[in-house]
Amino acid sequence: MKVFRTIAELETAPDTGLVPTMGALHDGHRALFRAARAENGRVIASLFVNPAQFDEPADLDAYPRSEQRDLELMEAEGVDAVFAPVLDELYPAGFATWVVPGDTGAEGGARPGHFRGVATVCLKLFNLVRPERVYFGQKDAQQVAVIRRLVRDLNVPVVVRVVPTVRDADGLALSSRNVHLSADERALALALPRALQASVASSNPVAAARGSLNGLEPEYVEILDLGNAKLLAAAVRVGSIRLIDNVLLEGELT
Ligand code: PAF
Repeated sequence: MKVFRTIAELETAPDTGLVPTMGALHDGHRALFRAARAENGRVIASLFVNPAQFDEPADLDAYPRSEQRDLELMEAEGVDAVFAPVLDELYPAGFATWVVPGDTGAEGGARPGHFRGVATVCLKLFNLVRPERVYFGQKDAQQVAVIRRLVRDLNVPVVVRVVPTVRDADGLALSSRNVHLSADERALALALPRALQASVASSNPVAAARGSLNGLEPEYVEILDLGNAKLLAAAVRVGSIRLIDNVLLEGELT
């Protein structure tokens, strides 16, 4: 597996699938690598903790970093190459051009600037790696909506794939932030996937989910339209940890 640290050494190739990551990899990322491996001649992953998408400095400081382990996991999943640049490569002195998505839903409202950072770094990665396909997880559903809109509005020649959320046996969606949950907080957090799942068949899923969060205060519960799929999405705080999750209401993820 090749590891490129600079833009100068990065190699492009046809039939490439890109999996953008911020490291701290878990089985949700494995599912992205496997989806990419299944339909591309070459799989490249990026590994870059993007400061521009952290709306809270404390969140950036606390973000788990485990590069050696991440590289081993990528290699074991058959990733051919990794682009792991240092900060200056992507944000050199004088950097001043941003992609500002127009509609970022309740998640964007709760995290000012977050999707500007995501959209900007993703467009840069698409331009640098020139993949035919890119892979994103369903869990970050508003991110998927933003990237799909970016690709459509700016005519980016790439196909966006969405890979279903991977959950632990107890139902909690995998997230790099889960490592910060205490055992008690984790038990409380389970109310989020349970409330969403229990509300899928309701005539008013938003109200049903709000009513079954078991005391967890939702930041929002909303229906998110991805075009080919509608999702019931929510964010809650458990202690100092912010968790998001969603379930499919209708349509299909592709
Ligand atoms: O989902 C993530 O890990 C990040 O938002 C992404 C897509 C790698 C951009 O930094």
